Amino acid sequence: MRKIIVSAPGKIHLSGEHSVVYGESALLSAIDRRLIVSLEQRKDRTIKVKTQNLKLQTALQDLENKSKDNLVFFGIWKNYQILNKKPKTGFNLEIQSQIPMGSGLGSSAALSAALSGVILEFEGVKFNRRLINKIAYEIEKKQHGNPSGGDNTVVCFGGLLKFQKTDGQFKFQQLKTNKDKLPEFLLVNSGKSEETTGEMVELIRLKIKDKRAKKKIEAQKLIQDIGKITGKFIASFDKNQFNNLKDLISENQKLLEELGVAGEKAKKIIRLIQKIGGAGKICGAGGIKTGSGMLLAYHPNLKILKQLFTENNLDFFKVNLGQKGILIKNG
Ligand code: PMV
Repeated sequence: MRKIIVSAPGKIHLSGEHSVVYGESALLSAIDRRLIVSLEQRKDRTIKVKTQNLKLQTALQDLENKSKDNLVFFGIWKNYQILNKKPKTGFNLEIQSQIPMGSGLGSSAALSAALSGVILEFEGVKFNRRLINKIAYEIEKKQHGNPSGGDNTVVCFGGLLKFQKTDGQFKFQQLKTNKDKLPEFLLVNSGKSEETTGEMVELIRLKIKDKRAKKKIEAQKLIQDIGKITGKFIASFDKNQFNNLKDLISENQKLLEELGVAGEKAKKIIRLIQKIGGAGKICGAGGIKTGSGMLLAYHPNLKILKQLFTENNLDFFKVNLGQKGILIKNG
């Protein structure tokens, strides 16, 4: 029986989270943590899904109904709807992920893209990142409401990506960054965010639309300022010139804190990093009630940073940027 394996990377926002929803550019990177979906054809008309902690199944004729409240079934159904086809046989899907969920690392974008990749391949559609991205975006919308589309795009295309959405259209371009000359970063865990990405995006939308003119102008100005700093990030990564990186990360985090997307635990960790001469920032939607997800941590001397996190009992790992986008392997 046919077996198809697809992997998609997680992502971080180096800069531009939230402001990208309002038409500013974002700089995103695919990272070296991946989600893998494998599909094995079945002889019957059942779809079975196995993840690290749950098992689900549906008969093909119930797929549309089941897709209403389950993202994996929705993802499968959406692909067939866009292809204007129905599955001919059932299949087993196995999902394994190294990307922590609810941490700003694009786990749902990786799942959406990998699901699309595996179904298109199963249906004999020629590998096409743009089509996978288009379908992944539809799945992301179900999950997040009004996402910018940056997460699914970097997960599909990989590398370091300048991304912008204007008039509903994605505009993106891979930077020419030399991967071997990239600075080293750690990701440190500030705890899973209690809020969903959709809720965090909505929180900012309400600020931007605030009836009080002063509050509204303040929020709009923060979005523009994040846009400006993202321009500096892009220039710096494009030219492989990182002498101002520490200041850029700190300035970016300051604006995100003023915007109100960083929680107390995240701020505390970031102050610790700054105290030893480094910088840190959230790298996705953030969170305020409890954790704010993974934080991007930078210090010219990584050893000192690792020591700080170990001493403070914080979970961390080294992250490599500019990784490959979605990959298909036929078995
Ligand atoms: O879902 P996350 O944590 O990767 O964050 C997405 C980034 C936002 O700018 C907050 C939302 C978006 O759709 O771009």
